[in-house]
Amino acid sequence: MAKVVLENIYKSFPLRQGEPEKDANTTENASPDSSHSTSNTVLRRINLTVEDGEFMVLVGPSGCGKSTLLRSIAGLEALTAGNIWVGDRLVNDLPPKDRDIAMVFQNYALYPHLTVYDNLAFGLRRSEREKKSLVISQQSLGKRRPHPHPSLGGKKEEILNQSNNWVVNNLEKYQVQRRLEDLLVGITRNLPKGLRYLSEREKAVGGRVMKVAQLLQIESLLHRLPKQLSGGQKQRVALGRAMARNPEVFLMDEPLSNLDAKLRGETRSQIVQLQRQLGTTTIYVTHDQTEAMTMGDRIAIMNAGQVQQVAQPLELYNKPANLFVAEFIGSPPMNFLPVQFTAPLLISHPQFRFTLPDIWAKSLRKYDGKSLILGIRPEHLTIHPPATKNLSVQVDVVEALGHETYLQVSLTDAPAVRLQVRVPPERSIRVGEELWLAIAHDKIHLFDPDTELAIFG
Ligand SMILES: Nc1ncnc2c1ncn2[C@@H]1O[C@H](COP(=O)(O)OP(=O)(O)OP(=O)(O)O)[C@@H](O)[C@H]1O
Ligand SMILES: [Mg+2]
Repeated sequence: MAKVVLENIYKSFPLRQGEPEKDANTTENASPDSSHSTSNTVLRRINLTVEDGEFMVLVGPSGCGKSTLLRSIAGLEALTAGNIWVGDRLVNDLPPKDRDIAMVFQNYALYPHLTVYDNLAFGLRRSEREKKSLVISQQSLGKRRPHPHPSLGGKKEEILNQSNNWVVNNLEKYQVQRRLEDLLVGITRNLPKGLRYLSEREKAVGGRVMKVAQLLQIESLLHRLPKQLSGGQKQRVALGRAMARNPEVFLMDEPLSNLDAKLRGETRSQIVQLQRQLGTTTIYVTHDQTEAMTMGDRIAIMNAGQVQQVAQPLELYNKPANLFVAEFIGSPPMNFLPVQFTAPLLISHPQFRFTLPDIWAKSLRKYDGKSLILGIRPEHLTIHPPATKNLSVQVDVVEALGHETYLQVSLTDAPAVRLQVRVPPERSIRVGEELWLAIAHDKIHLFDPDTELAIFG
């Protein structure tokens, strides 16, 4: 298992003829090639460390560069600039097969002519690590040039040549033996169990396949072909195939998006359990709030090719670093209202005014007489009696989900300002009803309207 470190990652794609350039190139964000008008910069100075064994979830809106980042880590896209470290190896120039990374795509690709067992075993049989070590030994043997030793004269050269020949012969023998074994395994694979030839390697492969199949509960499907599986079963086989290889790093790009809600929930917890058992460093891309909040040790939020914040799920929810994160995490999203601030602690809006808790005084001192953006989550607005510190609203939509009810309301004196409110399900509310809402003052978020950064109390 290994830590993954991304250092100053940039990725640009060449522009197609007639395609407009992306506009987000401020000086600070400009990519190394931003002056080059024939490219489209998709990743901009990404810095991210995923600790050894950590489950990192990557979320962000469509097109923000999540898949491009995963594909770059896997080696399927060449970087424009930056470094990718896996453990202590700089992998920038290594081909995908040598990075010891397994990737599961949204559109799983199973080998259609192989059974589930063989799909799972495929990567193990062709263990790139083994192949690589053979290639390296052959290359290094080829490169060895014996130097004559003065005291031994030609004797040393002879000894070295003999040892070279011995290694080459044994390597060849080993390879021939492996090929013969593979042949026997292949020929006898479809015979009754007792008649199948099982090499030591195939026994080890079988053990690993069975372990992964048990973990993913697909043991009963091992003899089937992919066309005989449901979408959810295929997806689990695709996951299993990546896991069976026991790589240093798993990359998963929305692996559950083709599954129905129930299967999605089940597979979600299976992936988390498996990751905990295997301890494999994992980067998991999703659009789904629940997956992001429940699966990851930490979440990295991306927007427009940049990482906005990296934190544990509840920290992101409770302390979003900027407006983008505040709006992106949470469903329904946080409400925002423009307000005026007067030192030391007064917040005012045409419809309401209230005094903030003392903890805000220091960080808000420089905002005296200025505008701020107030953020409040739907669950931190509650129905209360009329008061100047409360908001008068009218109910536009009632969404009763059973375990909770969401209201969409608009300010009575400013109907264009809409808010979302969570209320207890037992409270019956009609569309058109007028209510007063209280803001939980210890739960508010404040943002600088110019920088969009959060101000912390
Ligand atoms: N091969 C390519 N050539 C040119 N542009 C590309 C290429 N691949 C991706 N892009 C562009 O890069 C941007 C990021 O794409 P990417 O697939 O990484 O987004 P994403 O965050 O994974 O989105 P989604 O959530 O929809 O999967 C998009 O604007 C996309 O059009
Ligand atoms: Mg994608």
